[in-house]
Amino acid sequence: MVDIIVTDRDASIHRLDVEDGQSLMRALTGAGLDVPALCGGARACATCHVHIDPDWAGRLPAQEEGERELVSEEPSFIDGRSRLSCQIPVTTALDGLALTLAPLD
Ligand code: FES
Repeated sequence: MVDIIVTDRDASIHRLDVEDGQSLMRALTGAGLDVPALCGGARACATCHVHIDPDWAGRLPAQEEGERELVSEEPSFIDGRSRLSCQIPVTTALDGLALTLAPLD
């Protein structure tokens, strides 16, 4: 299991114990957090947008161009920290990952 630390939009902190191999978006929605994920992970909606903690931003799998294009159109886009959680598989290498849910538009 992989420990993920999530700050929600009310600044409450949640510690998730996530199964290795699950998408980060599925972990967030499965924990009951407010992540609409309207497209179900098809990289078409950006409602799974998260801000990765600066200490972790460079340690995630590389961002594909399609993800970058979609998330960069979000009003709360932060260069180098904005990711679509549906595009990030959780692995043991991410144990301790910290992130914040991006504002909903
Ligand atoms: S769930 Fe729609 S882009 Fe991630």
